[in-house]
Amino acid sequence: MQTAATPDISAELRQRFATANRVLVFTGAGVSAESGVPTFRGGGKTATWKGLPFDVISSGAMLERNLPAVWEWFDYRRDLLRSIQPNRAHRAIADWQDRFADLTLVTQNVDGLHQRAGSRSVIELHGNIWRARCVICQTTHEIPLEGARPDACGDCGNALRPDVVLFGELLPPGAFEFAAQRAARCEICLVIGTSGLVYPAASLPEIAKSAGAFVCEINPEPTGLSDFCDAVVAGNAGDVLPQI
Ligand code: OAD
Repeated sequence: MQTAATPDISAELRQRFATANRVLVFTGAGVSAESGVPTFRGGGKTATWKGLPFDVISSGAMLERNLPAVWEWFDYRRDLLRSIQPNRAHRAIADWQDRFADLTLVTQNVDGLHQRAGSRSVIELHGNIWRARCVICQTTHEIPLEGARPDACGDCGNALRPDVVLFGELLPPGAFEFAAQRAARCEICLVIGTSGLVYPAASLPEIAKSAGAFVCEINPEPTGLSDFCDAVVAGNAGDVLPQI
């Protein structure tokens, strides 16, 4: 019987993992779940904030209407993250950097936990919650782990917004295109902790598979991507990744 603690790691995945040179790791909120970061849609539930679904408060339309409310939601999420540490899944992925000739890490997460675990060159498709961006000149400003966030642009004095992609907005210029290029040349694509519902990010596994890669999902729940993957490991990323 298979449990989250003893996931059935596909023999084919292990064998391919042992010999691969080019690996693409694509992560979503589930990779941070074991650190205590709530997912958006895991367990069949949709995250809400003060009665609003997360995709309403996290939207470009809300930003236009009520920037302080959007900040309130992101301030709340940053507060949650302050006391949170990277978990075994983040650390396993960081270790893989030295194991493969060519490892690309693409994340939809904005929490910065991959970097805190030691991952370098993370492609962040949806931005980073630890940065603010000027609504006029687009200059970005780091938000410190401790202490207050800047309340206006240090360069031009205009309002700042979270440097995060909101619903209805475009991805950062070039980020998806670069990730797609890497997906098109990987041998293995690991799809970890994502419901695979948000595009264009969710098309990366399809690009990898069309180009001949072995695509493996690691998730305790089935997703819309499961049937199309070459292998599915049903388990928590923190249990599975250190064992691959
Ligand atoms: P979701 O919340 O949609 O999906 C999280 C997935 O993680 C679910 O499929 C869970 O089953 C899985 N999961 C939960 N615990 C896990 C664990 N311990 N190990 C592995 N998997 C686990 O999150 P995303 O797919 O990342 O966008 O959502 C995509 C985007 O939607 C996010 O980047 C965010 C959101 O709106 C923006 O912020 C722009």
